[in-house]
Amino acid sequence: MLDEDTVTKPILAFTKVVKDYGTTRIVNEISFSVARGEFFTLLGPSGCGKTTTLRLLAGLEEPDSGEIELDGQCLAAPARGVLVPPDKRGIGMMFQSYAIWPHLSVFENVAFPLRVRNVSAAEIRRRVIEVVEIVGLQGLEERGATQLSGGQQQRVALARAIVHTPKVLLLDEPLSNLDVKLREQMRLELSALQKRLNLAVVYVTHDQDEALAMSDRIAVLNKGQVEQVGSPSELYEHPRTRFVSDFLGRTIVVSGTVRRDGADGFVVVRDSGSLSLPGGRGHEFSQGQEVRVLCRPEDITVLPATACGPNQVTGQVGRVAYMGSHLEYTISTAGSCLQVPAGKRDLYAVGATVRLQFDPASITVLAQ
Ligand SMILES: Nc1ncnc2c1ncn2[C@@H]1O[C@H](COP(=O)(O)OP(=O)(O)OP(=O)(O)O)[C@@H](O)[C@H]1O
Ligand SMILES: [Mg+2]
Repeated sequence: MLDEDTVTKPILAFTKVVKDYGTTRIVNEISFSVARGEFFTLLGPSGCGKTTTLRLLAGLEEPDSGEIELDGQCLAAPARGVLVPPDKRGIGMMFQSYAIWPHLSVFENVAFPLRVRNVSAAEIRRRVIEVVEIVGLQGLEERGATQLSGGQQQRVALARAIVHTPKVLLLDEPLSNLDVKLREQMRLELSALQKRLNLAVVYVTHDQDEALAMSDRIAVLNKGQVEQVGSPSELYEHPRTRFVSDFLGRTIVVSGTVRRDGADGFVVVRDSGSLSLPGGRGHEFSQGQEVRVLCRPEDITVLPATACGPNQVTGQVGRVAYMGSHLEYTISTAGSCLQVPAGKRDLYAVGATVRLQFDPASITVLAQ
């Protein structure tokens, strides 16, 4: 029987990990943990430290301080002089340049990690046949690696990364070399495989759609720091910073001033309207404080000027663009220009006054 720790304790923990290159801090006190069987994604712009974080985990770089723990074993802790070498960490890796060996067959490419670990020939045969089938390449074992399509080569790299049953699989932008259609197909296959094997995965990408579609949880990185960790819907709907909101999709931003009325609070958007602060957040802001209200464009409804109710802001239509599936209005309000989608039946002319209906449950209010 599994004890409670095995179920609830994370398999992987990063604690205040720091990495400097020269005088530049690349990884700045990063902490996160990954549960067993979890698909965990590091998401962030180019140069924010994603690959460096994976390299620290794989043992290809040494942290300057902090601790990395995998399955109860400390892998790196400079303060205590601990540093486990890469081949003793129980980690599988597949990087963007996944470099399968062109002169070897599919079988030998996949068998490689087992051969370097001195596994017996019979066991190698059994494991390779098993994972080649898992990734859907059965029958191609003797094919030369160069006689494979891009997607098949990707699968060989994946089979090679999981053949020694790692405790955690690291994937660094593994799909970025593939064309759009194949990338979407491999996304689905990879997710299905990860769930079937109940494998903990740390996935790196700068593609927010990929991160939202595949992950159990995402850590958004910015300049070597974790901005926010959460499920895709938590991050998309309740971003804690402007950076997270902008990075995960389009954001509507309006400025306003907080007015408090007992426990309730409102954001007065210049002379265009007012919005209720989301549930119970009145106490977080002071009377007269300047704030920004963030919202997703799809959570705003465009209504005719004649409608009048709470949580509405008045604006003027500046432009209407026909987008095929919907219309996109450019609406100016209280000094901001907002891009808001609307159904094709909601026709408002350029210059018309409209009301924008906000849903208080789906807005985020941040101090200016
Ligand atoms: N060996 C190194 N020596 C000095 N600087 C490095 C080294 N490796 C990476 N860097 C720098 O560290 C920063 C983070 O690099 P890293 O490769 O981790 O970024 P990334 O988030 O993976 O970016 P990308 O999305 O472009 O792959 C970059 O500014 C990079 O130039
Ligand atoms: Mg990288």
